[in-house]
Amino acid sequence: MAEATQLAYEERGSGPVLLFVHGFPLDRTMWIDQLAGLAKIRRCVAVDLRGHGLSEDPNPGGYSMDLFADDLAATLDELGAEKADVCGLSMGGYVALAFWRRHPDRVRSLVLCCTKAEADSAEGKAGRDALAELVREKGTEALFEALLGKMFRKVPSEDVVARCRRMITSVPPEVATADLEAMRDRPDSVGTLSTISVPALWIAAEEDVIMPLDAARATAGKIPTGSFVEVPVAGHMAPMENPEAVNAALRDFLKDLK
Ligand code: MLT
Repeated sequence: MAEATQLAYEERGSGPVLLFVHGFPLDRTMWIDQLAGLAKIRRCVAVDLRGHGLSEDPNPGGYSMDLFADDLAATLDELGAEKADVCGLSMGGYVALAFWRRHPDRVRSLVLCCTKAEADSAEGKAGRDALAELVREKGTEALFEALLGKMFRKVPSEDVVARCRRMITSVPPEVATADLEAMRDRPDSVGTLSTISVPALWIAAEEDVIMPLDAARATAGKIPTGSFVEVPVAGHMAPMENPEAVNAALRDFLKDLK
């Protein structure tokens, strides 16, 4: 496995670190409303995973959720933070679960947003390969078109769609395909859920067609220390689509955590 590397990040606020990990194939800017809304209670840090945003990778490939998780640990070292509240959306949630497995002593709490614990099915893996092929042949504009129908609530905000389009079409195609391979090969995390011993919040969105609500509720129920929140009027990109509700859930969850 490649060596862990310190990531580019954007931060706001002071206090205990709240680390935000973006989904596929996005970057730190998906969390700007959380940085603005939570800076009074936390040192909010949104990272760019390797290859994404400002974390340039001259030789992308060989990615895994474990490698991404180790990059988070290297970034916490750089921040001088022993522990963090770790909040990941979707692929970022897979990374957060890997971080819990590999660096449990560095986790104050976990927030798993619009994500799942199961590994890909055989059909899901074939879908990853097909999407990677599409990216290799037609680039990231075609990737955006392929994701467009699933990422947002039924009546999406034009601004949110435009911001996601900018993120997706900015990611190098080799990074997007490396992400897809890493997600295809990620291990099942269902067994990890029962090992979680820090406070955990599962956030699911009413209109998320990628990570449906009922499955999310059942998964969250497997975390002994878990709680569950449903975000209304939002799809898969809930932190961008209904930032007020996501921020309120985070504020409520974090208020008693030292
Ligand atoms: C994401 O938003 O990160 C992706 O939908 C995750 C996935 O495709 O499994």
